[in-house]
Amino acid sequence: MGRDDDEERMEKTLSGNEIGDGFLSHGPAVGGKALIDRDRAAAWWLPLETIGEADWPILSSLLTEAERERSERFHFERDRLVYIAAHASCRGLLSYCLGGAPLDWRFTVEEHGKPELVAPEAGPRFRVNISHTRGLAAVALTQEHDIGVDVEWLERTVEAEKLAERMFAEPERRKMAEASDGERLDTFLKFWTLKEAYVKAIGKGLSQPLDAFAFDPDALEISFRDQVADDPANWHFEHYRPGPKYLMTLAVRHPAKRRLVVDTRPAPLDYLRDLAKA
Ligand SMILES: CC(C)(COP(=O)(O)OP(=O)(O)OC[C@H]1O[C@@H](n2cnc3c(N)ncnc32)[C@H](O)[C@@H]1OP(=O)(O)O)[C@@H](O)C(=O)NCCC(=O)NCCS
Repeated sequence: MGRDDDEERMEKTLSGNEIGDGFLSHGPAVGGKALIDRDRAAAWWLPLETIGEADWPILSSLLTEAERERSERFHFERDRLVYIAAHASCRGLLSYCLGGAPLDWRFTVEEHGKPELVAPEAGPRFRVNISHTRGLAAVALTQEHDIGVDVEWLERTVEAEKLAERMFAEPERRKMAEASDGERLDTFLKFWTLKEAYVKAIGKGLSQPLDAFAFDPDALEISFRDQVADDPANWHFEHYRPGPKYLMTLAVRHPAKRRLVVDTRPAPLDYLRDLAKA
């Protein structure tokens, strides 16, 4: 895929709007006025290669003490850094869209491990989801609606055929078998990120059997083995390419896709630096 194609795909939103039409182009929320609502969601990605040495302490300062302690416990530095990037982006995106200080956001952890924002007693409920892979962090935010994000490094080593055989639904396994050797890993990762984004959006993670639902990878539509399990019409999926080596997939549950705008863009590092100074 050429560079122009990559850039074009990065600019897609779930409703087909182009970047620049998005509300985030107006800059951060001030005076507590939220930049997102029930029809407008947001996602940022942060490639680690864009973060300079001097930025790491700045990004760390956006984390709570507990998050910093957790980051210290990673064995590999690359895991520590991507964790810091993800959680700084998460707190940054919340402050950017909703106003307020990055360290004030508090989370609870649901039954299967999904962090959920502790909502103020009154007012809308905001939902956030994080993903990290080698060299890239991502975060997505909605008001009320379930949202899941998954990012993958396209050069990872993975036993695609074995995993698909064990975990995918039958039509997905067939697509995998039809793929040429050169296409197989990309085909697998498209299915994988769609599946992960969905199980993260519903909060079940891998406690949800991955063969109980299947994707049409061209139409980006979901279907369920058990018809009453969930309603396919409420689900919207999109792939993005945050860079030549990465795939990001979003899943959003929303009653009307044509109204839904998701503003997706690289995390604005200048904003994060300013936020740390404030
Ligand atoms: C935990 C899980 C939800 C996602 O794991 P993952 O793909 O490894 O990790 P991601 O970086 O995309 O997501 C992790 C983040 O999702 C969030 N999360 C954790 N449990 C979650 C759940 N049940 N639902 C939604 N989000 C969840 C957390 O914020 C977590 O980040 P944090 O620990 O830094 O706070 C789960 O689906 C899983 O374990 N997947 C296995 C991944 C795997 O085996 N990959 C190899 C094959 S390609």
